[in-house]
Amino acid sequence: MTARRTSRWRGPAWVAWRTRRARRAGDVGGIVRSVARGADTAVGIRVGRQRILLLLDPALVGELLVEHAPMTTKGPGVQLTRQMLGNGLLTSEGKPHDRARKLIAPAFSPRRLAGYTEAFAGRARARTTGWRDGETLDIHDEMACITLDIVGRTLLGIDLVDRAPAIRGSLEAALQRFGDVGGGSLLIGGVGRRRGLGGRGNQRGKNAADSPRTAEADVHRVVDQVIDEHRRRGQSDDRRDVVSALLSDGQVRAGMSDQEIHDHVITLIMAGHETTANALTWALFLLGRRPDVQARLHAEVDRLPADGPTFTQLTRLPFTRAVISEAMRLYPPAWVLGRTLVTPLDFAGWRAPAGTLVGVSPLLLHHDSRWFADPRTFDPDRWLDDRRNSVPRHAYLPFGTGPRACVGEQFAWAEAVTVLAVIASGWDVQTPAGLTPKAQYRVTLRPSGAVPLRVSARNAAP
Ligand code: HEM
Repeated sequence: MTARRTSRWRGPAWVAWRTRRARRAGDVGGIVRSVARGADTAVGIRVGRQRILLLLDPALVGELLVEHAPMTTKGPGVQLTRQMLGNGLLTSEGKPHDRARKLIAPAFSPRRLAGYTEAFAGRARARTTGWRDGETLDIHDEMACITLDIVGRTLLGIDLVDRAPAIRGSLEAALQRFGDVGGGSLLIGGVGRRRGLGGRGNQRGKNAADSPRTAEADVHRVVDQVIDEHRRRGQSDDRRDVVSALLSDGQVRAGMSDQEIHDHVITLIMAGHETTANALTWALFLLGRRPDVQARLHAEVDRLPADGPTFTQLTRLPFTRAVISEAMRLYPPAWVLGRTLVTPLDFAGWRAPAGTLVGVSPLLLHHDSRWFADPRTFDPDRWLDDRRNSVPRHAYLPFGTGPRACVGEQFAWAEAVTVLAVIASGWDVQTPAGLTPKAQYRVTLRPSGAVPLRVSARNAAP
């Protein structure tokens, strides 16, 4: 490979020139792509007094997120969410983070996941039985409803369906605020935002976002109520949800205050709802354009008993999993990750002083033809044949890697595969010709606006 890198930090004028078109179009993803264009291992820019290094090589990504993890803190986007998330897993650092991670891990053990999987299938079935043959649905909205219902049952142990519109409005607003300060602000926080970028709201969350602080207060109130209810019911009443898992485990109770549990639960709700909804939405949109792929998915799920899948049956769904893997390759819900260096570090000749913001974009890595042949093509088979062995370590990282990798990864896999399997067992989805939803680069990579897909019942009378 020819090295085209020059380890020269580019200044604001270069950034402004490079990104001018994308900035004019309000295309945050385009800004990141423009900055990276032509570089091979990394690109360094200066925005005001801030140095930003974007890593493009999987080996360097491993250095940042795994080997050098103790020399970094989470980037400023995540830091800014502290006001809402308190000191939950996402925002805490150092020893308190490591301690909390150990205490929380058992809530995601295989035994727990088996119980959650029942809820995943049950909630997906409950929602999809309301679909009518031949109707067109906003599939993003549908997936957000299913995953929110799942959050209620599996994280909080409550039924959110009745309370859904209010809570969902609050969550949407809170997520929007979360999105405003995170994700895309990694690279453009300094440049784009001042120029009016990155602040285009999601219309669906608009009303609730009019009073984001009220919405956040609502979410905090619900979590407090849930913790109180669990406490009143007592330790022995384990209802197989995450809050029960945390409160019924003596070690966790001894190790964490109510406030800490509150912060962790809020964090799990925020980190775990929208990401999975987006992964499923993009997967269904892609499937709806490829009847051949969908037919293979149907054939696989049809081999399961009608009331499945159970947690143990998930291993019988390799193609379903490959569809999700491929959807997250093309549309990684966490599309950009950031770290701040607490000591100076060298990345392949880039001498980065302490305070440098170092970014990794799963989106750029996943679309790089050096690691994925024909990167723009939706091809789930690349995860099932020999090609998967040639993907370099850290070139595919929808869930991050190292000590700050997603704590809910196994939960998310089980959830996404189960919900997709339930949908595929009853429904065929069709994406209208010419529909390609515009991506919105917030803290997650979400479709901007509705994703109208047609659903047909597979068992409908001819
Ligand atoms: C498809 C779904 C999901 C994706 C793509 C995803 C992605 C990620 C990524 C990339 C990170 C690491 C961020 C970084 O390195 O800066 C992360 C962290 C995290 N995720 Fe997920 N996630 C998903 C689902 C979930 C679920 C279902 C939960 C909880 C139920 C969850 C909870 C968390 C938490 C608490 C962290 C912070 C972990 C720590 O810092 O120790 N995520 N997620």
